[in-house]
Amino acid sequence: MTESLTVRDNRTGQEYDVPIADGTIKAADLGKIKAGDDEPGLAVYDPGFVNTASCRSSVTYIDGEKGILEYRGYPIEQLAEGSTFLEVAYLLIHGALPTKAEYEQWEHEITFHTFVHENVKGFMEGFRYDAHPMGMLMASVGALSTFYPEASMIQDAENRQMQIVRMIAKMPTLGAWSFRHAQGKPFVYPDNELSYTANFLSMLFKMSESKYEADERLVKALDTLFILHADHEQNCSTNAVRSVGSSQVDPYSAVAAGIGALYGPLHGGANEAVLRMLRRIGSKSEIPAFIEGVKNGNERLMGFGHRVYKNYDPRAKIIKKACDDVFEVTGVNPLLEIAQELEKIALEDEYFVQRKLYPNVDFYSGLIYEAFQFPPEMFTVLFAIGRTPGWLAQWLELTQDKEQKIARPKQIYTGDRGLEFTPRDVRWA
Ligand code: ACO
Repeated sequence: MTESLTVRDNRTGQEYDVPIADGTIKAADLGKIKAGDDEPGLAVYDPGFVNTASCRSSVTYIDGEKGILEYRGYPIEQLAEGSTFLEVAYLLIHGALPTKAEYEQWEHEITFHTFVHENVKGFMEGFRYDAHPMGMLMASVGALSTFYPEASMIQDAENRQMQIVRMIAKMPTLGAWSFRHAQGKPFVYPDNELSYTANFLSMLFKMSESKYEADERLVKALDTLFILHADHEQNCSTNAVRSVGSSQVDPYSAVAAGIGALYGPLHGGANEAVLRMLRRIGSKSEIPAFIEGVKNGNERLMGFGHRVYKNYDPRAKIIKKACDDVFEVTGVNPLLEIAQELEKIALEDEYFVQRKLYPNVDFYSGLIYEAFQFPPEMFTVLFAIGRTPGWLAQWLELTQDKEQKIARPKQIYTGDRGLEFTPRDVRWA
């Protein structure tokens, strides 16, 4: 089989042989196809990069048809079952699972960088009383670049590692403080005797007790949710991190851009929409009427369907299981019954079967977060904490990829040309 594409340009009658490698052709090869010597080369129009590979990556593998998700080759189900978020973070950053000594060192480093400069605290206290925690997180991660100006030396491997450790370590501190600010509660300093996730819960919920120790089942469930969100290849926020990072800016600024992308309702906000939908449905008896509304095109079944997964999102299966553990501690969220029945009916319905619409990661995650007593504004903050190692692994890969260039897509210009400017005093006379 010849691994190439023969293209005939009907404008000129000329034929071109375009090599195929890894199931792709190089856009630069298409650029050689021209209608005339002075004409621009052929380009690809692809809003949202729906069918354009922007990089080579060995971080995450997804097969959406089969419902497979792997980090560095390890199936997500196995990592969620047997690993910890910090170990998964190590795997994503370093490309291999740690030895015992490497893990202990990693855990020690992350644990001892959880504190932030006191001025960061002052900075965060300056936000309006009702500031959205995601906006606070985005701004404070960006602000960290001013506290660590050496982070701009992105060619230095040791320096890169230092910033990666700092960012993974400080994200829960900034996330928890963003939460406490809106509640008018004092910020809680990190407790370095606790695990990564237990410490996060302590910074969120500790009041006057001398030590806050969360129920182990809750710690495990939240840790699992972080694992499930740790990376998802070239999604909108990761693409933002890579795009901004391609200018060779420091990683705090690049990750702040990723947080900005995740802030948007089309990316990080679907689980909140699921909760609103379940509340609106209100009871199991109303489900058939709701499903009819969806099929008639009046509604969308939120938490169903995915651009990549045309099968059960593997993360949704794991979250569904985690629901049981969390509700054992917190009591069952009454919306769970509606969600389960809705899923059952939808999975048997021809409309959803035909379109390969299955539950995605957001169908059950909002229910769990609500059981933790997180307000919906915090859902994306939790997502951002989980996604940080993925953003950083992708950023690290970018900094060492010789094929990468500054991100600068082409456009198809649709505006005017060569207009003559008339000064204001003439135009307005
Ligand atoms: N409810 C009802 N119908 C749906 C749904 C849904 N949730 N999702 C897709 N469809 C239908 C579309 O109407 C379309 O039908 P048609 O062929 O008759 O026109 C068909 O299925 C294909 O859908 P597209 O919109 O073309 O699929 P796309 O890949 O563009 O969209 C998306 C994916 C945006 C996730 C969509 O499924 C959706 O809106 N889902 C609900 C929102 C949601 O849960 N988002 C979270 C995604 S996970 C994440 O981002 C972390």
